[in-house]
This record gives sequence, C-alpha cells and structure tokens, in this order.
Amino acid sequence: MALVKEKRIRVGGLEFAITMDAARAERLRKSPAYARLIRPALDRLQGASNGHAGRNGTAWQGVPPRLPQMPAPATPEARAILDRIAGVEWYHTIDLPHGVTTPGFVDHRSQRHLYGLPDDMRGMRVLEVACFDGFWSFEFERRGAEVVAIDLASTAQTDIPRNWMDVFYSGGFDKPKGEGFRIAKELLGSKVRREVLSVHDLGPEHFGEFDMAFCSDVLLHLRDPLRAMENIWRVTKQFAIFADVYNPELEAFKNKALTEFCMVGETDVWWRPSSTTLYLMLHVARFSRVEEVSRFKLNSHFEGEIPKVVYKAYH
Ligand SMILES: C[S@@+](CC[C@H](N)C(=O)[O-])C[C@H]1O[C@@H](n2cnc3c(N)ncnc32)[C@H](O)[C@@H]1O
Repeated sequence: MALVKEKRIRVGGLEFAITMDAARAERLRKSPAYARLIRPALDRLQGASNGHAGRNGTAWQGVPPRLPQMPAPATPEARAILDRIAGVEWYHTIDLPHGVTTPGFVDHRSQRHLYGLPDDMRGMRVLEVACFDGFWSFEFERRGAEVVAIDLASTAQTDIPRNWMDVFYSGGFDKPKGEGFRIAKELLGSKVRREVLSVHDLGPEHFGEFDMAFCSDVLLHLRDPLRAMENIWRVTKQFAIFADVYNPELEAFKNKALTEFCMVGETDVWWRPSSTTLYLMLHVARFSRVEEVSRFKLNSHFEGEIPKVVYKAYH
C-alpha cells in the first residue's frame, strides 16, 4: 500500500495522527468539501503573514505531538493496569493506583492550584462540563465533592461545521468518547457519574442544580459559547469556574472585546477571544460578579503555547 505522509488533524478536542493510503488521500483531495473550504483556507494561510494563521500554522502540517513515556511496569499489579489502559488515546494524564499514570496529552497535575478551587469540597455538588477522561472530576471527588460530569457520546456530536461533515466521515474521524473515563473511573474506584449531554442542551431539568460548575478548555470548540455560558448559569447555585483559552495577540486592545474567528485552517477551534471578551460574555450570560483567578500556559504535549485565563463567576 502506497503511504502518504502522516498528517495531524484536530477534531473535537482530540489530535489525530492519521496515515492515509494514496487512493484515500486522493479521494479526500477530490471531495467537494476539500475544494470548497480546505484548499482555499490552506492557500490563504500559506500566503498569510498577518498573524491570522492557526496556532500550528495549519491543521494539516506539523509532526504528531510527543507522547510521554509509559513508566516501566514494576509489579504484576502495575503491569495489569498498564495492559488495561493500553490502546486508549488518553487526553488526560491521570495518576492511577500502583504508580501507573495515563500517557495523556494534557497534564493538569502541576497546575491544579491555578484554578481557584476550594481545598475542601465536602458537601458540595459539582458539575463538570466536558470532562473528557475525567481528570478534573476525579480531582473534585478526591476533595470530597459529589460529581456529575457531562460530555458527548462521540466526536461526531462536536460542533463540526456542516461543510466539514463529508470530510469528517470519509476520513474516519468519528470515534466514540468516554472509554478513558470509564477505565479510569473503574481503576480509581470512583463514583463520579458521567452523563452524555451537550452543554448546548444543559438545564436544571436534567441533573438539578450545583454548588459549583466547572468548564475548562471547551468554549473555544463551541459554535455558540455564549449559550453554553447561559446554560451553565442556569444550573449554578454559587459559582462557576471558567478556564479557557484566550488570544494574547488581542490583549493590546484594552478597551475592545475582540475575538479571532479560527474556523479557517483549524478544524475544531471556532474562536480565540481576548480575555476582555470572555469576561464580558460571562456578564452577558447573567453571572453577577466575575473575578480573574489566574493566567498561565496549559501544560500539554501539543505543539505551541496554549494561554489560559481562569475566571470565577458568581451566580
Ligand atoms: C479540549 S477537551 C477539554 C477537557 C477538559 N475539560 C479539560 O479541561 O482538560 C474538550 C472536551 O469538550 C467536549 N465537548 C465538546 N463539545 C461539547 C459539548 N457541546 N458539550 C459537552 N462537551 C463537549 C469534548 O468532547 C472534549 O471532551
């Protein structure tokens, strides 16, 4: 089988390293969506020198991210856990029993203190929006909270532009979600409840209200982030933590709420807003008071820096 170069594509928060045979690549290149959207976008990006290219220049170039090394299994118990977690494309780095850690793209462990979380969460009912493999939900549970976590059933449910759908399906990018969460939950003996629900459909009628809601690194992937904020407000009793990506290039425009539209050259990022935009949107979503908690670069194995700002937004 003639192979073309490995390419990387970002869909629904995941980075896929894909290797296509030549015939398949040719079919993709001839697809109507490629001609309509991808090719012109790539041409524009290649000619762009105005800083409007995506974080990686284009979603179709670059090397696959470096994966962390799995620790050598020291005991039979650790070896059994390594066997259990093998084969999962882990997003989160999660510490499991017997010294085993999942080989995730994103490692929040050393940045937990930057999110303004209560140390003691006993008695709190917490909602995590967009939990992926569950790092944050397991952390809230470890601090004593009762946790409900929501995410999607498959990558096809993410906010993919209609124009990209044929490429998405022909490229075989539709993948079920939640396997990593299920395995980690079992190995940790966790009681966190993972429910399939889009934040776009979130409301108190589903799982009631929560003392705290938590939403990290998802607004940029949503077609309508304001509606997501409003829905989170509807289920929040005390406060919500919003920790999302902002665009440092727009920070110079202090008195303007600017946002970069990114759905040209990237496949799963809609917006990279200024922190001012995020701050004001939270007020528009009806949060009564919004405090900035921190700014930092996400600790991840993705290429390029991912600047984040954390807000504590009171109901
Ligand atoms: C970049 S990951 C962030 C994971 C985690 N929140 C964190 O901070 O590490 C984005 C997550 O958002 C989820 N997601 C995307 N669109 C969603 C939606 N409409 N409703 C709920 N979750 C969604 C994806 O499935 C994925 O798990």
